[in-house]
Amino acid sequence: MRRTQVAIVGAGPSGLLLSQLLASQGVDSVVLERESPEHVQGRIRAGLLEWTTVELLQEAGIGARMMREGLVHDGFDVAFADGGHRIDLKGLSGRSMLVYGQNELQKDLIEARSAEPDTVLWQVHDVALHDIGTCAPRLTYAHADRRHELHCDFVAGCDGFHGVSRAAIPVEKLTQYERTYPFGWLGLLADVPPLHEELVYVHHERGFALCSMRSHGRSRYYVQCPLEDKIEHWPDSRFWDELHARLPERYARQLVSGPSFEKSIVPLRSFVTEPMHFGRLYLVGDAAHIVPPTGAKGLNLAAADVRVLAQGIVEFYRAGSPTLLEEYSARALGRVWKATRFSWWFTTLLHRFSADPFAERLQLAELEYLAGSAAAARSLAENYVGLSFD
Ligand code: FAD
Ligand code: DHB
Repeated sequence: MRRTQVAIVGAGPSGLLLSQLLASQGVDSVVLERESPEHVQGRIRAGLLEWTTVELLQEAGIGARMMREGLVHDGFDVAFADGGHRIDLKGLSGRSMLVYGQNELQKDLIEARSAEPDTVLWQVHDVALHDIGTCAPRLTYAHADRRHELHCDFVAGCDGFHGVSRAAIPVEKLTQYERTYPFGWLGLLADVPPLHEELVYVHHERGFALCSMRSHGRSRYYVQCPLEDKIEHWPDSRFWDELHARLPERYARQLVSGPSFEKSIVPLRSFVTEPMHFGRLYLVGDAAHIVPPTGAKGLNLAAADVRVLAQGIVEFYRAGSPTLLEEYSARALGRVWKATRFSWWFTTLLHRFSADPFAERLQLAELEYLAGSAAAARSLAENYVGLSFD
């Protein structure tokens, strides 16, 4: 039997960042992760950090490489109807974004957490949560072929959308909201120079496309695809042809193709669980909510949850006050719903839904409004860079 103050399920960005922030404030935690460190840091996912996320990572003491290697972006382009419009994030909102891959962040977090041996247990199986409705929750799990028990004061469910934490809450205690979208994103990573110095979001009659990057020599591109599509149907040549066909001419001629080294299809979903806690269990990041990737809010929302929860836990141990912890769900959900609305809106604006000419004309009208109205552009910029904390 082992004891810790905070048991954390999942060593994605939420779980590791929470453990790191708590350690910096003298709070002890143990992280249980199903996969190996190589698997976790090899997952290609998000790539864009809000400045509040950047600041939180610096506060957690893991910002040095990120600040050296990350790319500061002050704006992005929205391309439509063969033209384009730049959203001046810095000018409209006063903030920039940082391009830094989630897998790089995972590496930094893993390295930082390795400073305390046995804090993160990898390849742990059969994690089960017990007595979460009491003041003495415990977790059982299998590790290195043995069964173990972990006693704690609090459990943080940082185990993503398919984890065991949310499922441990009696279903009648939760309300879940969900919206699925009738398409997915096919993403490709290749060591070719990005077609533009900033990101380009593309609305096109063949479907949405996004030209992003991870560095000056590494590009991350996405095209909207049917939900039922299979990666085998997308040899690199088909991907490059399709992306080329969706780009306005001035970008298309700059597109450099090359062999991919990662290709995957993700379905798009909006999902919110309310409340984000039950008894001594707190849900964090993708375990509590999912947004479609348009606008890059998933990872940033996870970091925002971590900030609020860490403050609550630290205050509990420092001042003996449960107030901030009791407010965790309401404070986190305020931000979550605003980001859910924004991601849904940006997805709806840019993707092709059905062959409905009326809906298509409305999309174009809204894009033209965005290009012509400083107020509309400012609203987009404000949401994109992340709303400020209350
Ligand atoms: P996760 O990263 O999912 O981490 C959860 C961890 O828990 C994992 O390591 C998992 O192995 C572990 N786990 C699960 N079950 C158990 C268990 N039973 N026991 C122990 N451990 C368990 N966001 C963006 O902003 N932009 C993007 O482009 C983008 N692309 C994405 C692409 C994909 C394929 C996916 C899945 C997500 C993407 N996201 C993107 C979302 C973003 O990556 C997530 O919001 C972010 O990873 C959330 O972090 P998390 O730590 O909450 O969850
Ligand atoms: C990336 C993903 C996004 O969803 C987005 O809006 C911007 C960038 C990316 O993976 O680089």
